[in-house]
Amino acid sequence: MNVSEIFETMDYGPAPEGAAEALAWLVDGGDRFGHFIDGKFTSPTDGFESRNPATEEVLATLSQATPDDVDAAVAAARKAQAKWGKLPGHARAKYLYALARLVQKHARLFAVLETLDNGKPIRESRDIDIPLVQRHFYYHAGLAQLMEAELPGHEPLGVCGQIIPWNFPLLMLAWKVAPALAAGNTVVLKPAEYTSLTALRFADICREAGLPKGVVNIVTGDGAAGELIVNHSGIDKIAFTGSTEVGRKIREATAGSGKSLTLELGGKSPYIVFEDADIDSAIEGLVDAIWFNQGQVCCAGSRLLVQEGIADRFYAKLKTRMDGLRLGNPLDKCIDVGAVVDPVQLETITQLVTEGGAEGEVYQAKCAIPEQGCYYPPTLITGLSPAAKLMQEEIFGPVLVGCTFRTPAEAVQLANNTRYGLAASVWTENVNLALDIAPKLVAGVVWVNATNLFDAAAGFGGMRESGFGREGGWEGIHAYLKPARITKPLKPITAEAKPEELDVADPLDRTAKLYIGGKQARPDSGYSRPIYGARGRLLGHAGLGSRKDIRNAVEAAHKAAGWAKTTGHLRAQILYYIAENLSARSAEFTERLRSLTGVHAKTAQAEVETAIARLFTYAAWADKYDGAAHSVPIRGVALAMHEPVGVIGALCPDDAPLLGLVSVMAPAIAMGNTCVLTASEPFPLAATDFYQVLETSDVPAGVVNIITGNHAELAPTLAGHLDVDAVWSFSSSDVSAVIEKGAAGNLKRTWVNHARTRDWMTAEGEGREFLRAATEVKNIWVPYGE
Ligand code: NAI
Repeated sequence: MNVSEIFETMDYGPAPEGAAEALAWLVDGGDRFGHFIDGKFTSPTDGFESRNPATEEVLATLSQATPDDVDAAVAAARKAQAKWGKLPGHARAKYLYALARLVQKHARLFAVLETLDNGKPIRESRDIDIPLVQRHFYYHAGLAQLMEAELPGHEPLGVCGQIIPWNFPLLMLAWKVAPALAAGNTVVLKPAEYTSLTALRFADICREAGLPKGVVNIVTGDGAAGELIVNHSGIDKIAFTGSTEVGRKIREATAGSGKSLTLELGGKSPYIVFEDADIDSAIEGLVDAIWFNQGQVCCAGSRLLVQEGIADRFYAKLKTRMDGLRLGNPLDKCIDVGAVVDPVQLETITQLVTEGGAEGEVYQAKCAIPEQGCYYPPTLITGLSPAAKLMQEEIFGPVLVGCTFRTPAEAVQLANNTRYGLAASVWTENVNLALDIAPKLVAGVVWVNATNLFDAAAGFGGMRESGFGREGGWEGIHAYLKPARITKPLKPITAEAKPEELDVADPLDRTAKLYIGGKQARPDSGYSRPIYGARGRLLGHAGLGSRKDIRNAVEAAHKAAGWAKTTGHLRAQILYYIAENLSARSAEFTERLRSLTGVHAKTAQAEVETAIARLFTYAAWADKYDGAAHSVPIRGVALAMHEPVGVIGALCPDDAPLLGLVSVMAPAIAMGNTCVLTASEPFPLAATDFYQVLETSDVPAGVVNIITGNHAELAPTLAGHLDVDAVWSFSSSDVSAVIEKGAAGNLKRTWVNHARTRDWMTAEGEGREFLRAATEVKNIWVPYGE
């Protein structure tokens, strides 16, 4: 077609980006396609081919990492970390700045290489992926610079294993590497097997920047190489982005190992259009939501919910827009939709639509599809029931499912009818409606009148089975830091053995019940056990809680969900009131602790006083743990709101039986969570006395539930319960592995002590670490300013 013909048809002429530089690098780079370990490339070995999905041509043959390769990479990272972690923040900031500058300098090469390898349109790799990569390194250069001043008392985790997917290869690398390095960690990163090329090019840049050897190590390979990293004993943290299925396996594999873990997994994000929305903008938004990167986006707006009154008009406009989408050679700057990453992924998408689409109506864009290459047409499926597989499962392709709703309440119900909780978009011209809906959506990110916006300053991450942890921003850096503190192994703490002769404390039966739903409840088993004081005197009996009691308590905690909607001010008042009532009975609690644990009266008194102070601390925090308004370089602001996690199940410390329970309960309820607390196993009577304090302190029924019993027996039930959102353990029993493994079911958050000590009497027992564990950060992007 010549120019005048193009002018006549008003069609687009092809405008391909030159690939010569990238192809030359691939030809020259043969010796680079080993692994990048300790600042050098290893010799290429047997491996696998990396293909261009648009042409199916082989771009490179890459090496499959062996156990020896992973050992060498971990050893190099470990050696380098000792120095890197001790560098002043400014020194690390300079390296991160250099990396940002070099990515910027080579931006064109990176963009073309990414498009060749992944199939995404060059417009996206050039204007979105690579600029965001630079932004991530610049931003984290800043965090490294500020770290000592702003985050004192923290230290790096050590060596981080990072496993990334193929949908945003270099961007995911930046999301992982930049914060890890800023915080003083070193990394062993494995790119996805389909898309390793920009990671290897990035290794060149690490050398150019003079990054100390071993700080960044990159090994290539498939899931087996990923498993080697996950299971390596020399790794301190795993950061994973990818499928929920693999995320679950990693949760299980790392259980009990002491490795930190963040998981950024799949989604089925709702895209909600109210009838007063600017429809044309919402249609353009939808193009970005589901056809950006061929829909291979974890937070893709893949579930359209459109209000009934505008549905017909909206679908009609959408189909017209779909027909206008240009699909084809990703290197062409006029292309909207490129190639799917690999024939395997294409097959998955095709099969899902063929099997599931029959239940509804399938509309596919009338655009020309190249004969060769992994292309799938933009697709809309309507008329499916909310429970249909395609309404629930992540398709990870250019396929949108749509349904209608009548009322805002129904929109929220449908939006949250998913096992995921990654992102959501809300379209309405009514600011009241948008800001009413945003807090009700179960999602880590909500975009108002926008979609798929990302920035290094705003944390990204999900709830439910979309994983846990945040990447980016101040909230994300904590995933790569830990409080600097010396801990020791926590020895199992046991009660005094039963004396030989039965001693009766009181002629009256003193069997402390459980506390469920604001009422004292007999344990379901009907059993209790005698509790002896430090001197062998029988102090009473405590119920032996069972699975059924945990289930009842979780149900009660759910019924009390209204607590999340109370104001911080109200929660503060109640915490102060608990403190006041505890204070009124401090002599009695002091005596109880003394007789239970055998400590000196002064020590017991100090524990009671610290518990009262701790209640004051969280009363103070209840209305002061503010979120943030992130400045993002896009028209708008990202409001990072702190939300409660939901129902928190906790095994309370065995030591400090009163203070430990208070230290766990107070941050949880201050932040609006409800909780199921399993009292100190050897010394439960301080907790059962304490619920009498709760009963007189206006704590609504079900907000705090207290179970007594055996930690090892109760831990699996708490961890496996699908209606529990997070499990904490400070028990001296070694239940951390059981909890982390059990949590893999619904991928709930866990916070366990791996049987290491914490001094509850000091600042170690309170503060922001607890508040962070008790909250989710939801980033709500709203239009703001010009
Ligand atoms: P995947 O989750 O299998 O792969 C992601 C990364 O994990 C790759 O680097 C892979 O080599 C590695 N990996 C695979 N198995 C592993 C294991 N057992 N231990 C450690 N690492 C392992 O994703 P895949 O197979 O490429 O895509 C399948 C589906 O996953 C997609 O259709 C999509 O639904 C979802 N997905 C979601 C992503 C997201 O960003 N949430 C990204 C990529 C895929």
